[in-house]
Amino acid sequence: MIGQAVNRVDGPLKATGRAAYAYEHWEAGQPLYGFIVGATIGKGRITRIDTEEARNAPGVHLVMTHLNAPAQGPRDESIPFEYWRAQPVLTGPDIHFYGEPVALVVAETFEQARDAGDLVEVEYRVGRGRFDFGEFEDDVYIPKTVNAGLPTDTAVGDFDAGFAGAEVKVDQQYTTPYEFSMPIEPNACMAAPRGEDLVVYVSCQITDAARDSVASTLMMDPERVHIVTPFVGGGFGSKLGIHSETILAALAARALGRPVKVTLTRQQVFQLVGMRPTSSQRVRLGAGRDGRLAAIAHDVTMHTNPDVEYAEQTAATVRSLYAAPHRLTSHRLTALDLPRGSDVRAPGEAPGMLSVESAMDELADVLGMDPVELRIRNEPTVDPERNVPYSDRHLVECLREGAHRFGWENRPATPASVREGRWLVGYGVSAAIRGHFQGPTTVRVRLEPDGTAVIQTDMTDIGTGTYTILTQVGAEGLGLPLERVRIDLGRSDHPSSWGSGGSWGATNSSTAVYRACMALRTKLLDAARGDTRSPLHGRDPADAVFSDGTVAIGDASEALSEIVARHHPDGVEAEGQTRFMGDDPNYSDYSINTYGAHFAEVGVDADTAEIRLRRMLGVFSVGRLFNPKTARSQLIGGMIWGVGAALEEEAVVDPRSGAFVNRDFAGYLVPVHGDIPADIEAVVLEGYDDKANVLGAKGIGEVGICGSGAAVANAVFNATGVRVRDFPITLEKLLPGLPAMVG
Ligand code: MOS
Repeated sequence: MIGQAVNRVDGPLKATGRAAYAYEHWEAGQPLYGFIVGATIGKGRITRIDTEEARNAPGVHLVMTHLNAPAQGPRDESIPFEYWRAQPVLTGPDIHFYGEPVALVVAETFEQARDAGDLVEVEYRVGRGRFDFGEFEDDVYIPKTVNAGLPTDTAVGDFDAGFAGAEVKVDQQYTTPYEFSMPIEPNACMAAPRGEDLVVYVSCQITDAARDSVASTLMMDPERVHIVTPFVGGGFGSKLGIHSETILAALAARALGRPVKVTLTRQQVFQLVGMRPTSSQRVRLGAGRDGRLAAIAHDVTMHTNPDVEYAEQTAATVRSLYAAPHRLTSHRLTALDLPRGSDVRAPGEAPGMLSVESAMDELADVLGMDPVELRIRNEPTVDPERNVPYSDRHLVECLREGAHRFGWENRPATPASVREGRWLVGYGVSAAIRGHFQGPTTVRVRLEPDGTAVIQTDMTDIGTGTYTILTQVGAEGLGLPLERVRIDLGRSDHPSSWGSGGSWGATNSSTAVYRACMALRTKLLDAARGDTRSPLHGRDPADAVFSDGTVAIGDASEALSEIVARHHPDGVEAEGQTRFMGDDPNYSDYSINTYGAHFAEVGVDADTAEIRLRRMLGVFSVGRLFNPKTARSQLIGGMIWGVGAALEEEAVVDPRSGAFVNRDFAGYLVPVHGDIPADIEAVVLEGYDDKANVLGAKGIGEVGICGSGAAVANAVFNATGVRVRDFPITLEKLLPGLPAMVG
């Protein structure tokens, strides 16, 4: 079952509209609707807030502001991960960023709430905000660590000497903009009181974090908070934690004793959820004429919110990517009065690889060397900064296989040398690497007397295919047909997991399912072998084969349902666990990553600089695959996101107010079908990483976006001879440098 291209088991539910998302649960009764009123300044203080007219508007039940909001627990910085901390709202008159909630209006209908929201009168004393990254880029501080607890700076060898002595150098500055996760389903929550308890239907990636966060904010016993999140319409990091929509819904539901729903509008998602920080990145590469790197440095400056520090691990990927004796990485932050920075798919890796892999292309160009060959020449034998072996590294195979399949030998050797009609044509390549992580996860597998299995965990399916792959792993683990395995996800009352995020969800939960199945096998075998009524009585369990709902030892066999019915008339269950990586020696003894190589072909209009992606290929090494169909979707999705990062995505801040000016899909461009050719493919090399986990699998959610933008950017350079280092590469940046063509 594992490794087969099984269709999504939840597909029919979704296609027929029966999958209930956070805003669509009706079982708790008729809800009230909340609407968030946001600040219209970016920095300052509320001097007067008048809610009388809003309170008297039709259908309105409550207007909550900082003047009447219940007391809430403080954010506890000693809790290691932000997403498990309290997230108090409406705590005072100070405004920290544009759009920050200043009121919640709760009414009978969404329209009434929104309408009454316009009647809330707010007067401000406007403060002097720091909004413009460029203006404050040099006013930096050094964070203690960066995201995921990674070191802020690293140094190996003597970079300055190594770089100074290098025969060939690249020293360039790259900039990347604010970017947003923007899942299809906006952040939403319905909170419903149930006696002293609170049921919270919320669109989130980590159920356990949502429960802790709601409980500590509302100062409740976590046992009394019940998170329910069976279906999530995408997350990409923006739902790792909960936000004001959830806390406001919970506060209002408790205050009114009624279910209350709060959703963000698309514009509010751009204001209240957090974004990938903007970055300025200096990359220095020093090499010999043979292309061997002597020195690599990656220095990054990013924005952060002053109250909620977030440092994307932008310079972290290069630490494990290429061999070089002299190395340097650093992260610096400048505090701006903007929404907090937050995890957006492949945090750090995506913008970091965009720059580093562009710089590698620049080095290849200076050397006059094939960029695939340059990368292969710098393949390390051990992790160059941690000095430990790689568990299972196949970057070179990805590059070679991709070059072969893509027809890399047809790449124009000289930039701007191939023209087809109005199109300048170019090829680009990039490497991809991403760390693989493991977190504590518990799963319960229960075998019912009728021989069906139920798998329970608070793990989420954010559209990635969790339901499907856990069905496959459970079916294989117990030797059951797929249709006799039922998956019950997204409830905080189930055993807890690290949820979906960091590309760890699939392997954490699958490994725990597998272990639970093995424990269940042992229970069943022990029962049967010790039972004189069983045909398996006294047989050697080492020879047991579980398949099609039966267990066989030699020529004897018995149905699982019979063993369960006889020994466990109420069903039998077992738990399986995945360890925190810090307690698993493999994760300190080996550098465990996923790898890939991206290849892109673009056409650039010689007159207008319009860029069209013509085809794209990614070849990946990610250990063993659970399901090639769901995997392909994720990998291609990541690659397409990289196309957006290279060519389209950019949120722009108004330097006067701190507001994002293009806060909708008309102004914030992401790739649509018309931007992506049919000829885009992801290929996965067969593999098994025995250091990662017992199933040999690694995360695939984020490696697809790592480097893919650079392949596109490098293809643009190959097509035009113009290097744009300020992403995204838009027409007005490319056009002035285009070669004058005749004919
Ligand atoms: Mo991912 S940015 O860890 O959801």
